Amino acid sequence: MSRVVVIVGASSGIGRATARAFAERGDRLVLAARAATTLAEVRAECAEAEVLTVPTDVTEPDALGTLAGAAVERFGRIDVWVHTAAVMAYGRFDELPEQVFDQVVRTDLLGAAASVRVALRHFRVAGAGTVILTGSVLGHITAPYMSAYVTSKWGLQGLVRAVQQELRDRPAIRLCLVNPGSVDTPVYQQAANYLGRVGRPPAPIARPQRVARAIVDCVDRPRREVSVGRLNVVLRAGFTVLPGVYDVLVGPLMRAAGLSGRPVAAHDGSVFAPNPAGEAVHGGHLPDLRQLVFGPVGAVGAALRRRLG
Ligand SMILES: NC(=O)c1ccc[n+]([C@@H]2O[C@H](COP(=O)([O-])OP(=O)(O)OC[C@H]3O[C@@H](n4cnc5c(N)ncnc54)[C@H](OP(=O)(O)O)[C@@H]3O)[C@@H](O)[C@H]2O)c1
Repeated sequence: MSRVVVIVGASSGIGRATARAFAERGDRLVLAARAATTLAEVRAECAEAEVLTVPTDVTEPDALGTLAGAAVERFGRIDVWVHTAAVMAYGRFDELPEQVFDQVVRTDLLGAAASVRVALRHFRVAGAGTVILTGSVLGHITAPYMSAYVTSKWGLQGLVRAVQQELRDRPAIRLCLVNPGSVDTPVYQQAANYLGRVGRPPAPIARPQRVARAIVDCVDRPRREVSVGRLNVVLRAGFTVLPGVYDVLVGPLMRAAGLSGRPVAAHDGSVFAPNPAGEAVHGGHLPDLRQLVFGPVGAVGAALRRRLG
């Protein structure tokens, strides 16, 4: 059955991979993010699907209500609401401008809360529906220099559990939280940076398509929480069982694995305005498998063609 799926944060990374995955299943899509030009690109990538794009800033009042209204006007209903919109900021807490901290929390926590509110109001009237949010392993553990993001993800974790408890008498309405570890998306380069070094995902790094599969899977097999990342369980165990050891190790590990050596001047990244040029499915932190496989094959083919005439 073709579903109507709203995806907020569909122009990049996990949300863009999720849009493609739902399109391949034949679902009808309502794609939202701030950058209208990139949304048009994603619509072209989902050519097999019927797609409505709605430029939306989740920090604007009523933006998500307007989005829901546009979805219903076009398709008559909403079955699934996915929220992946987020921004990040690197910097020591006391050196990060407070406007940047506030805007990250406004986007990542309050924006997600607004999505849940709008979707649930719709689903309570309709009688059924699935909301899927992306949290993070950083909703269960902490890391230095990412305080605004960590605050948002811990807040989201609490919000989701509380709302799941409120939904116990409405089993046809599902709220799922997908918590990735490191994923190869542009979010690290798009982040505001007041730390002086460009951030990167620490290994092991998952592909955004893997998280997209987990999100799509939640529609058929809804679960309260899904973890995507080989080290998530280990990190949570260390953080909970050995907090002293964890706190000694996390700073050096963050500096070695979570930050590149590349210097960068202070900037606000995409926190206040989108940066379409930086939006893509992948962040370039993993080798391009197609290039690895087909690059040598293509080179051999070209050499053979030259030799044969
Ligand atoms: N990548 C990772 O390693 C990782 C790990 C754990 C959890 N996650 C979570 O996974 C989700 C997706 O992250 P990602 O890595 O795919 O990030 P991404 O590639 O940077 O994509 C973020 C998306 O959010 C949109 N967005 C940002 N601010 C917005 C706003 N104010 N209003 C509407 N849309 C906005 C962006 O589009 P515009 O800028 O055009 O608006 C973009 O479509 C997030 O919740 C993130 O916290 C990611």
